[in-house]
Amino acid sequence: MGHGAFEKTYAAADDRYETMQYRRAGASGLDLPAFSFGLWQKFGTDYAYETQREIVLHAFDLGITHFDNADRYGPPHRAAQKFFGKVLAKDLAPYRDELILSTKAGNPIGPGPYQKGGSRKSLLSSLDHSLRDLGTDYVDVFYSHSPDESTPLEETVGALVSAVQQGKALYVGISNYQPDRAHRAAELLREAGVPLLVHQPRYSMFDRTPENNGLLDLAADDGFGLVVYSPLAQGLLTDKYLQGVPSGARAENSAFLSPDVIDDTYRARAAALNELAQQRGQSLAQLALQWVLRRPEVTSALIGASSVWQLDHNVEALRFPELTDAELAVIEKHGVHGTGLKQ
Ligand SMILES: NC(=O)c1ccc[n+]([C@@H]2O[C@H](COP(=O)([O-])OP(=O)(O)OC[C@H]3O[C@@H](n4cnc5c(N)ncnc54)[C@H](OP(=O)(O)O)[C@@H]3O)[C@@H](O)[C@H]2O)c1
Repeated sequence: MGHGAFEKTYAAADDRYETMQYRRAGASGLDLPAFSFGLWQKFGTDYAYETQREIVLHAFDLGITHFDNADRYGPPHRAAQKFFGKVLAKDLAPYRDELILSTKAGNPIGPGPYQKGGSRKSLLSSLDHSLRDLGTDYVDVFYSHSPDESTPLEETVGALVSAVQQGKALYVGISNYQPDRAHRAAELLREAGVPLLVHQPRYSMFDRTPENNGLLDLAADDGFGLVVYSPLAQGLLTDKYLQGVPSGARAENSAFLSPDVIDDTYRARAAALNELAQQRGQSLAQLALQWVLRRPEVTSALIGASSVWQLDHNVEALRFPELTDAELAVIEKHGVHGTGLKQ
C-alpha cells in the first residue's frame, strides 16, 4: 500500500481506506481514524522538509485522515503549521474534503498577554493566525489547548462557539481539562448548540489519569470522544529504550522527554511488557497502541512518528487479535501509572 510520497507530484494511494478503522467520535456524526497523526515534535524548521512531507503523505496513504496541530508546534512555535500549510498547498489540496485538520490555542506561544490563556482575544486571534499558516479557510476541529482557571469558562467556551458560527471551525474540542471542568464545558457547549466533539487527554499504560479521575466514564456520559495523546509515552512504550538511548531518539534531543526517566524501574516494567508483546507476536509499540484502543470511549490514538517505518509499524497494530483478560492482567501489573512521567 502507499506510493507517491517520494515523487514530485503526489497522488494518494487508491487503497487508502481499505485497512484503517474508523470510529465514531462520541455522540456526533463524525468518524475519526483509529490513528490520528500529530505534528508536535520534529515538524519544525530544524528537520528536513522532504522527510516530514513523506511522513505526512504516507499517513494519508494509510487512511489517516486526521492531522493534529497547534499554534505552538515546531520548533519554533508556528513552524509545524507553516510546514503543513506547504504540504496542503502542494500535495493535499485536492483532498481537503477528506481531511480532518485540528488546531489548538491557549498554551503560551510568546511573552504577550494575548499569546496565552483562554481569553476570547487570545483564542480567536490565534485561530486566525493558524488559518493563515495552514492556508485554509477553516479547520475541522478547534481546541482550547489547556484549561485557564483565570478566565471565566463562559468566555473560553464562547470563543469556541464563535469560531464555529464564523465558519472558521466545524467542531470544537478541549484538551487537558479535568473532568469537572470538562463536564461544565460540555454543558455550556450543548446549551449553545455546538456540542463538544472531543477531549484530548494524555493516556497510556504509564499514564492512567483518565481511568483514575473518571474522564473515560464522563466521555461516555457526556457524549464526547477521546483523542488520546502520547499513547506510546513518547516512545517509552516501544522497545527502543531497553538498551539505552539510541542516537536521534526523542529522549536524546527533546525538552519534553528527559533521559533521566529511563532508569532500572522503567526498564524492568518495559521489558516485562515487551515480553508479553513478543508472546503475542507483536512489538511493545503495537501492544501499547492496541491497549488504548480497547476502550470504546477512545475514538482515536494520537501518535507521532519520526519515520515512515514507525508509522507503518504502528498502524499494523490494528491487525492483531483482541487482548485477553489474562493479558490485560499482566499489563495491570507492569503498566504502572507514573512510570517515566516527570509531572
Ligand atoms: N493536547 C496536548 O497538550 C498534547 C500534548 C502532547 C502531544 N499532543 C499530540 O499528540 C501527538 C502525539 O504525541 P507523541 O508524539 O508524544 O505520541 P507517541 O506516539 O507517544 O510518541 C511518538 C514518538 O515515539 C517514537 N516512536 C513512535 N513509534 C515508534 C516505534 N514503532 N518504535 C520506536 N519509536 C517510536 C517517535 O519518537 P523518536 O523517533 O523521535 O524517538 C515518535 O515521534 C502530538 O504530535 C500532538 O499532536 C497533544
